[in-house]
Amino acid sequence: MKLLPIITFIIIQYLLITSSATPIIKTPTSLSILETSNVIYEEIYKDDKLDYLVIGDWGFQGKGVGQKHGNQKNVAFVMKKWAERYNSQFIINVGDSFYKSEKDDHQGVDSVDDEKWKVAWLDVYKGRLAEIPWYSVAGNHDWYNNVTAEIDYSLNVNSRFFMPSLFYVRTSIFGNEEKTKVAWIHIDTNLFFYEYDWIQNDGMKNNFNTLGWDNNKEVEMKLRWIEQQLIEQQDANWIFVAGHHPLIGTCATYYYMPKLIELFESYGVSGYFAGHAHVLEYKSPKPNSPVAYFTSGAASRTSDGCGGKDWGMPEGTFGFLHATITANEMTFSFVNATTTKDKVVYQGKLTARSIWNPK
Ligand SMILES: *[C@@H]1O[C@H](CO)[C@@H](O)[C@H](O)[C@H]1NC(C)=O
Ligand SMILES: *[C@@H]1O[C@H](CO)[C@@H](O)[C@H](O)[C@H]1NC(C)=O
Repeated sequence: MKLLPIITFIIIQYLLITSSATPIIKTPTSLSILETSNVIYEEIYKDDKLDYLVIGDWGFQGKGVGQKHGNQKNVAFVMKKWAERYNSQFIINVGDSFYKSEKDDHQGVDSVDDEKWKVAWLDVYKGRLAEIPWYSVAGNHDWYNNVTAEIDYSLNVNSRFFMPSLFYVRTSIFGNEEKTKVAWIHIDTNLFFYEYDWIQNDGMKNNFNTLGWDNNKEVEMKLRWIEQQLIEQQDANWIFVAGHHPLIGTCATYYYMPKLIELFESYGVSGYFAGHAHVLEYKSPKPNSPVAYFTSGAASRTSDGCGGKDWGMPEGTFGFLHATITANEMTFSFVNATTTKDKVVYQGKLTARSIWNPK
């Protein structure tokens, strides 16, 4: 971190000018606040289940005959129906929230006032989708432009687009008597996926420079941060991690990405949600690899998927993931929302980590 000498200087100055022996030193720069939150955001629900949708790579407005909002439109329509049917409590947004959709357009957002907040998000996702929070992380397309503005928007304009920092932790506690705790660790995988020297995109490179993300010490530090959060959340019945880049098969081989798998497996993560590959895909837990890996990156574009998956939809199929968690079980469905006549194309079940390892 390049700012460290400056920070140290400020702290020393502070110590010199105050007589108090034990000053409270808060995180002294806005930059480090931007990277990781020190608070854990806690939600308490009266319901005996937790219901949510996972969407990724959704902000592509272009194309689609007669579709004002491109291929996003049908997916948004079907998601609304599901969110209302199941009273979904929130959305896990795995990033690539804003794309360059046509020639004169730009990647990501320029600022908190960018019209894309309205045209690519607020105008598209209606009904219940416009009432519940979207717990977000940044994708590479968000990094191509002003990723700071997305945090700023969350903190100062509309916290329903929830991204108070690049990395943050939430806990959802639900159920009347038996309190079930679900821990959610939202991470920025761009740091683990793109090696600094190989970054081609100027916007991303500038953003990496601003944060001092130009060396693998930074990468290691963030890995330790994730590990620390996993240690602190070991009492949770469920632990989920959400990031932009997938950890399935051939897609999981880039730069530091395999280290994430090691961490998730050692600390008993229940599942990992990602997008980036514009497909719906799944890799089920195995005896030697108990983590479930989900890719939901087909909410506005489609592409090929990752070799090594257990299940996946072919290119050309749009959709999202729906899941319901109870104390002991999570059921999930991948939904084909290519047209408004939606269809469940894959269903599965996971067991709570509190059942793998009874207390
Ligand atoms: C990016 O957004 C931030 C926060 O909204 C703003 O302060 C900054 O000026 C923007 N940067 C550029 C290069 O536009
Ligand atoms: C998804 O739905 C579309 C439209 O009905 C259909 O063409 C496509 O084959 C379906 N995809 C899968 C994987 O079933």
